[in-house]
Amino acid sequence: MVKPLPAASDPELSRLPLEELRRRALELKKKRDAYIIVHNYQRGEIQDIADVTGDSLALSQAAIRTDAKVVVFCGVDFMAETASILNPDKTILLPEINAGCPMAGMLSAGQLRAKMKEHPGVPVVAYVNSSAEVKALATICCTSANAIQVVRSLPDRQVLFVPDRNLGSYVQSQVPEKEIILWDGFCPTHQRFKEEDLLSAQVQYPDAEFVAHPECRPEVLKHADVITSTSGMLSAVKNSGASRFIIGTEEGMLYKLRKDNPTKEFILPTQKLICPTMKMTKLASLVRSLERMEYQITVPGDVAALALESVERMLVLTGETPMVAIAGY
Ligand code: 13P
Ligand code: SF4
Repeated sequence: MVKPLPAASDPELSRLPLEELRRRALELKKKRDAYIIVHNYQRGEIQDIADVTGDSLALSQAAIRTDAKVVVFCGVDFMAETASILNPDKTILLPEINAGCPMAGMLSAGQLRAKMKEHPGVPVVAYVNSSAEVKALATICCTSANAIQVVRSLPDRQVLFVPDRNLGSYVQSQVPEKEIILWDGFCPTHQRFKEEDLLSAQVQYPDAEFVAHPECRPEVLKHADVITSTSGMLSAVKNSGASRFIIGTEEGMLYKLRKDNPTKEFILPTQKLICPTMKMTKLASLVRSLERMEYQITVPGDVAALALESVERMLVLTGETPMVAIAGY
């Protein structure tokens, strides 16, 4: 596995107590007129200062809706890139420049081009956890919240699904009328979570409902009571009569689940479910980012224009108003 690069640090800021960092962050947020968008896997100290928290789909929608000129995206690089593709006139900041998604790094544009040559004419569905260059080659984008809907919407029988083989296999199980050709990518964090981890948690907590993210291995997903995106987990838990849940996704998810449901109990089946790059962003990173206006994420115009088409096709399908007319679709 590729080791994540280190987080950028400011020794002076890192020594400050959280309360002081929070005070500075709020002051700078006002001064910069910034909007803080935070993924569900981020640290509690970051979730607590968010204007909005959510899954990848909700956050790309939030980035469109805000009038703020500066958007700070506390998450990983592909999320900030997507925000930039959707908002070329806004300044998009990613507080930690090395906060990448290893799954997105498992497929380059060159590799996708070669795969597309093997399957001429087959539409490409790119999971949002992919680079802007890959999105630019895709027919349509998807997130874990809408992957089934996106694949079903395509008129073709064959679909090339990239880069997550686990999400792709799950979609295949739900859309048997299609033939899904998979890329061999995966999320290393969800991949570390094995069936035996789940089975031992279930022995300890036999009454717990098992809620899983579709990035988990198929042999884990086959035990799930609910399979859904991170925001889907929030509503699934809220609407469930159960009082205990085993959560099959990244550890940060438990922060909001616990906050929203103080009488319910949440179990992380293994400490291996921690994404190192999601955890890079601390309150000190956010303060440094707003102080120095770093790191600004931009996508080259030609790539952004093509990637925008595949992202907007997805948003149109899920009911979000498009910003530009999509020709020929
Ligand atoms: P969600 O879109 O469900 O939040 O997932 C994003 C992600 O990176 C999962 O690992
Ligand atoms: Fe990427 Fe997995 Fe981390 Fe999500 S949890 S950002 S898919 S490595």
